[in-house]
Amino acid sequence: MLASHHSVSTLLIRTELTDVGIATANIPVITIDGPSGSGKGTIARRVASALDWHLLDSGALYRLVGLAAARQGKMNAGEAEIAAIAEHLDVRFSSDESGEEQVWLGGAEVSRELRTEDCGRLASQVAALPAVRDALLALQKGFRRAPGLVADGRDMGTTVFPDAALKIFLTASAAERAKRRHKQLNDKGIDVSLAALSRDIEDRDRRDSERSVAPLRPAEDARLLDSSNLTIDEVTRTALDWAQGLEQDLD
Ligand code: C5P
Repeated sequence: MLASHHSVSTLLIRTELTDVGIATANIPVITIDGPSGSGKGTIARRVASALDWHLLDSGALYRLVGLAAARQGKMNAGEAEIAAIAEHLDVRFSSDESGEEQVWLGGAEVSRELRTEDCGRLASQVAALPAVRDALLALQKGFRRAPGLVADGRDMGTTVFPDAALKIFLTASAAERAKRRHKQLNDKGIDVSLAALSRDIEDRDRRDSERSVAPLRPAEDARLLDSSNLTIDEVTRTALDWAQGLEQDLD
């Protein structure tokens, strides 16, 4: 999910931090931002895989902080305490024999729990806290490694990688996003009603767009892509076409 898509062995996230610095400035980054259910995660994974670049699913980090805070009973403990959790996240990313991505928090596998709507809600609550965002900044920048990085989230193009070579803002209508998320969760055996999901998505959109720090909005130099009436293949192809223009520029 968050490690390099071709890493097979366990990766200790803290070791990623060693790469932060000037040396990373010329490593190309493609950012894919957008609201929940726009398909960013799927598209980012496919683009990273096609280019053989690394992948950062920044939402997973916020989900992990939310989950850790809830488990420790600290959701109401205040910004500093939650930021401290973000600072000291005991997280590992790995993949099993079949290549399925796994996330571990404090030694326990949480991959499935991380994708639940409850966890999304916790994530968007902790994500509104500036100190939490600050605590995760260096961690995210550390994923910028050669030959390149595809980063998906809400503020990848605006805040974390403002110098990204290509910024995509992926949207889709709220109804279409709720429908997609519903199917995605059903496929995973997670039972949730479409109406409840639509409400959750609207709440989350509102919270993400209205927060004072790093609100969800396209970077000024982002290319907008509305996926409401496009298949995953069509969106991926468009993103890769844009990325190809980029590779030519980089040559
Ligand atoms: O993308 P995902 O649904 O996993 O993100 C969960 C939540 O984490 C979002 O609703 C948002 O509040 C927060 N988030 C964020 N900035 C990011 C990625 C996610 O605020 N770059």
